[in-house]
Amino acid sequence: MSGSQMSWVAQPGKPLVGEITVPGDKSVSHRSVMFGAIAEGTTRVTGFLEGEDTRATAAILSRLGVRIDAPSAGERVVHGVGLHGLRGTAEALDCGNAGTGMRLLAGLLAAQRFDSVLIGDASLSKRPMRRVIDPLQQMGARIESEGGLPPLRIHGNNVLQGIDFECPVASAQLKSALLLAGLYARSPTTVREPHPTRDYTERMLRAFGADIDFSPGLATLRPGQALIATDVDVPADFSSAAFFLVAASVVPGSHLRLRRVGMNPRRTGLIDALKLMGADITVSPVGEQGGEPVADLEVRATQLRGATIPEPLVPDMIDEFPALFTAAALAEGVTVVSGAAELRVKESDRIAVMAAGLRSLGARVEEKPDGAIITGGALHGGHADSQGDHRIAMSLSVAAQCASGEVRIDDVANVATSFPGFDQLARGIGFGLRLA
Ligand code: S3P
Repeated sequence: MSGSQMSWVAQPGKPLVGEITVPGDKSVSHRSVMFGAIAEGTTRVTGFLEGEDTRATAAILSRLGVRIDAPSAGERVVHGVGLHGLRGTAEALDCGNAGTGMRLLAGLLAAQRFDSVLIGDASLSKRPMRRVIDPLQQMGARIESEGGLPPLRIHGNNVLQGIDFECPVASAQLKSALLLAGLYARSPTTVREPHPTRDYTERMLRAFGADIDFSPGLATLRPGQALIATDVDVPADFSSAAFFLVAASVVPGSHLRLRRVGMNPRRTGLIDALKLMGADITVSPVGEQGGEPVADLEVRATQLRGATIPEPLVPDMIDEFPALFTAAALAEGVTVVSGAAELRVKESDRIAVMAAGLRSLGARVEEKPDGAIITGGALHGGHADSQGDHRIAMSLSVAAQCASGEVRIDDVANVATSFPGFDQLARGIGFGLRLA
């Protein structure tokens, strides 16, 4: 069966009950192997996400001459080669489905002495790269692409200068690409954001010994410092927990606990949004893991109400809109999402694909250029297409738990990019979900 032919059949299961741990954070996993690769010494990563996206990044670093051992699932030992130790390869470097992999590696590879080519799958090949190409070129990089889309042909042997850059979009990937290039520049690099985004790159660079100052929405990196290997213990991914926060809120009788979830404040906007909708979620902080706050989350089913999602929350929940759309379709009343045009350039056009998926189950969704107006109500069975978008597949499977009939969801193989084993974990707590 080819990946795009893989489908799920989902139907109402039981109330969702139990205690689960979701896999490691995708953003932190990508960065842990990248920074470990260009550090001096050996970085041990635990809790590494065994997803296709993060494995693709590790495989690319191996191609560039970095030894990365995998002694057990979720564990990586990265034998760092130092800032100047990567070796070029004539082979194209395949980032798979991963925007984070491609954009961050573009920054790193733009600063090397060798040429490289970054490619991706059909979805990644449609995603905008101009946002990283333009400022990297202002720093002195040379990158060729057709129409600002992958593949990226990156030329080496350039002298990079630092940049003081005001980002036109709130994007942690853009910020991180510039900071990675900035490690190699002749002068400091400052990145200013229109809204603060996840600061894993800044935190991790500091933990690896880089000379970096940062506060929400602003980061300045001074080059000239070697990175020193540091172990990274990856917390559980909030974005993977998100599907279960919504599922246990909407499936009557549910009571679910999620253990030790990463709670970086730039990631947890969905909790605020769901609470506005009347969700019953208790957050119990349990300390830090890998320099990030972690918490146990407890959620009980309630009747959600529609809400207007405040625009300042959008960057803090940018990956959670497919799940939020599902919550809105099952809430009482109207939910309004605006200021979220970035959703149109994610793994799919998430506004259009979620709207189509939910409508095929009977939901009322009005699309807007930068969001949607969703009127909650009852869902029926049907046939929906995730268009190869992992988060849409999982969000539709949550919606199906409350539909009156069976829901077939097509093109679900890419769930393995971020959440391998989602279906087993979900079945274990009561989901009705199986491979078609
Ligand atoms: C990510 C940043 C976000 C997010 C993506 C992961 C990161 O993308 O949507 O899933 O790890 O930096 P943008 O930078 O495009 O907002």
